Amino acid sequence: MDIRLEPASDAVPQPLPKELGFGRVFTNRMFTQRYCVERGWHDATIGPYQALTLDPAAEVFHCGQMVFDGTKAYRRPDGNLNLFRVEKNAERFNRSAVRLGMPPVDVQAHVHAIIELVRLEHRWTPEQKGAALYIRPVMIALDRSLEVRASREYLHYIILSPVGPYFGAGFDPVSVFVSDQFVRAVRGGTGEAKTPGNYAGSLYGTEQARAAGYQQVLWLDAVERRYVDEVGAMNIAFVYEGRHIRTPALTGSILHGVTRDSILRLAPDLGYTIAEERIAIEDVLRDALDGRITEAFGMGTGAVIAPVGKLGYQGREVAINQGHAGPVARRLFDELTGLQYGQRPDPYGWTRVVRVAQAIVTEPLAAK
Ligand SMILES: Cc1ncc(COP(=O)(O)O)c(C=O)c1O
Repeated sequence: MDIRLEPASDAVPQPLPKELGFGRVFTNRMFTQRYCVERGWHDATIGPYQALTLDPAAEVFHCGQMVFDGTKAYRRPDGNLNLFRVEKNAERFNRSAVRLGMPPVDVQAHVHAIIELVRLEHRWTPEQKGAALYIRPVMIALDRSLEVRASREYLHYIILSPVGPYFGAGFDPVSVFVSDQFVRAVRGGTGEAKTPGNYAGSLYGTEQARAAGYQQVLWLDAVERRYVDEVGAMNIAFVYEGRHIRTPALTGSILHGVTRDSILRLAPDLGYTIAEERIAIEDVLRDALDGRITEAFGMGTGAVIAPVGKLGYQGREVAINQGHAGPVARRLFDELTGLQYGQRPDPYGWTRVVRVAQAIVTEPLAAK
């Protein structure tokens, strides 16, 4: 794919704002390309980051035909940047698109666009420990129509945001409210796709949990309201007796997290056993109370690992590991971030170097 380059500012605030937060600051450039049935994907361009002008009748606003994804570029000790399992992320973007009746993008072209954009904007990568350049690909439906049908025209764009460490100074556990009133996704629905409706539908329940003093919501399966699905916008895992990691199986309503998949591949190499299975919330509460569950944590690109300190369910509250982060979460966090930041060798072939320190060349990916 040839990408047209339009002039854009190279100015980067020095230093970057201290309080970057998550996705509040954006770089100078964005990637865009368009799709129509007659021409397929075309007009690949990297140009200035700017507002989109959209018809108010565009289908994205009425049908919600839109998907997105998220991955990060990490600063390596040698000054170059690492992309982490970026092809797997692109494949998920395509699966989301197909589920929403949208045209997939060419995976290699999408990855190429990310590399070029990151290469041009690498100076925006924050230097603080735990910070990164967040990459947000999006696809939206453009047809000017109020009909409920798949659009014929789409916009695919990619923007970048320097993000701070998810956990400011520490590795503080989050408090989690188990919702038996609202559900996030149902099997056969769109839970496996990264589409805004899943997130919009979670906001009310999350706000209510916040008002009750919790930070995140643990979503149960939509049919029986009994089995654990996900926590907030993360996959979840429970550690039994300090060595056995259990996580819900991907049964159709759960997003296929790249972090989850990486932990499941990494953990056995560190001596942990793993199981992907249905996990009933009653069992979790019982096992947490009697101490068999020694830790619980969320897994996602944003935080990598987010320890869970307590669960609130139907008026009961159960602390996990007395509300503290545990050694398994810490170890997995250190191992995975060590790979992502290029601080340790990558035997899995998950990282791809974008050379920005000297020559502007990218290394091929060894394996997915
Ligand atoms: C609903 C949901 N579950 C899980 C995840 C974790 O996925 P990943 O590890 O690929 O970031 C995310 C984040 O993308 C998410 O939005």
